Amino acid sequence: MSQTVTSVIDGKAVAEGRTVASTNPARLDDIVAEVVMADAATFARAAAAAKAAQQAWADVPAPVRGRAIAHIGRAVEENAEALARLVTREIGKPYAESLGEVREIVDTCDFFLGEGRRLYGQTVPSEMPDKQLFTFRNPVGAVAVITAGNFPVAVPSWYIVPALLTGNTVVWKPAEYSPAVSNAFHELFVRGGGLPDGVFNIVHADGEQTYAGLQAALEAGDVDKVGFTGSSAVGREIGALTGRHLQAACLELGGKNPLLVTPSADLDLAVEGALFSGFGTAGQRCTSLGTVIVHESRHDEFVARFTKAVESAAVGDPSGDVLMGPLLDQKFATRYEDYLGWVQPHHTVYGATGRIGGGNARDGFVGDAEAGLFYHPVVVDGVRPGDAIFDEETFGPIVGIATYSTFAEAIEMANAPGYGLSSAVYTTEPDEVFAFRRGISAGMVSVNNSTSGAEAHLPFGGNGKSGNGSRQSGVWVLDQFTRWQAMNWDYSGRLQKAQMDVVETTPEPGFRLTEQ
Ligand code: UN1
Repeated sequence: MSQTVTSVIDGKAVAEGRTVASTNPARLDDIVAEVVMADAATFARAAAAAKAAQQAWADVPAPVRGRAIAHIGRAVEENAEALARLVTREIGKPYAESLGEVREIVDTCDFFLGEGRRLYGQTVPSEMPDKQLFTFRNPVGAVAVITAGNFPVAVPSWYIVPALLTGNTVVWKPAEYSPAVSNAFHELFVRGGGLPDGVFNIVHADGEQTYAGLQAALEAGDVDKVGFTGSSAVGREIGALTGRHLQAACLELGGKNPLLVTPSADLDLAVEGALFSGFGTAGQRCTSLGTVIVHESRHDEFVARFTKAVESAAVGDPSGDVLMGPLLDQKFATRYEDYLGWVQPHHTVYGATGRIGGGNARDGFVGDAEAGLFYHPVVVDGVRPGDAIFDEETFGPIVGIATYSTFAEAIEMANAPGYGLSSAVYTTEPDEVFAFRRGISAGMVSVNNSTSGAEAHLPFGGNGKSGNGSRQSGVWVLDQFTRWQAMNWDYSGRLQKAQMDVVETTPEPGFRLTEQ
């Protein structure tokens, strides 16, 4: 059964435009939805609608907006299985992970529903009598949110929930390959939360039209903030465009996340963590493991255990109990095949590579490999700085292994690619934990845990090629969607000039204790 999905602006469906099919990557003959693609002008119109609805939404008391978030959380919880099944069907994420992803929306709603009753400002003493200072958080305005499809519901909620809670309105441009999921998310928010028309608009469009529409909307003054999750290359463009409008976008970009295996590491734990973060979501998380950096004394044992675990991992039909399903979409499969071409003669590749099926079968494959975009999980040993596989994000099921001898060298290698999203260290030595934390460029550090699995109430974000330092989630994201306003109120009945009319005590600078 497939459906037709359209953009929704100001509560109304936008039915005109070319139609594109969204397919199930595990069963390519299963059309999940037909989506009507909008153009740049439609995106700009959605931004104008969001802008027009913003003041009225900001006038709704914050605790009432918090209640709307509570209702949304409940609606998502009540529909969790249906939404998770749709995530699995449209992007091929194993069902257990899809359920976890839906849980992340609920966690985000749980966190922010109470924030409606806080959104604290401060009362601050003035330097003069009969004058009081205050701070207030104001919404930024209309927010454009552009997200990827590897986390088609959790990551959008990280932007959309706090943006709405703080009194902003939203135009959301989801990934082109997850329109049915985005449509379900939008309906759950609008209907489950009882959001007024224009508060949360959704636009389905390709990258080019979105960029042009965003440019027009920024020029018209209809977008006040951009949240973007996607590649570093596109993030750079969005950062430059918003910068020209004196805005700082919230950018969550790629990662080349290192996992350090030190001499004291519990190898069973490290192998389990590397397997989950390397091949969960078929290696297509921003937090996916890029390179294992293993101490030379543990290299052979780690490689033996890790490759054995990869060999016996369940790969196949994502509606079953598998570690890894298909790639998200043909576009990612094509790009992943390019990454496989980055293997060099000095690398050792374990196991088969490429698309599973025909003469390239995988033992124990669950389901029909040829029906979908299934690829072999790949381990490449012997990678080092300067190799494309070591330096660049390789979105897909491929993990590199590098070897180190001194801890300083390990940190240098971990930072070398210039990303800085997530990282992990497996050690039982406290001094190594803190040396790693201090030395690593990543915004997130796991100790004896994989590079994936961030919780919804800690700051999420990266540095370097992974982002511009902005942070999502928890209280930290409030600074993305609000601006501080400082107010002073002088009730003395006269003009008291700051810095000039300030009374001081009279100190005795020459005073010294006399010793008896
Ligand atoms: C992402 O890949 O963009 O930590 C988000 C994790 C998930 C979120 C990942 N909770 O892997």
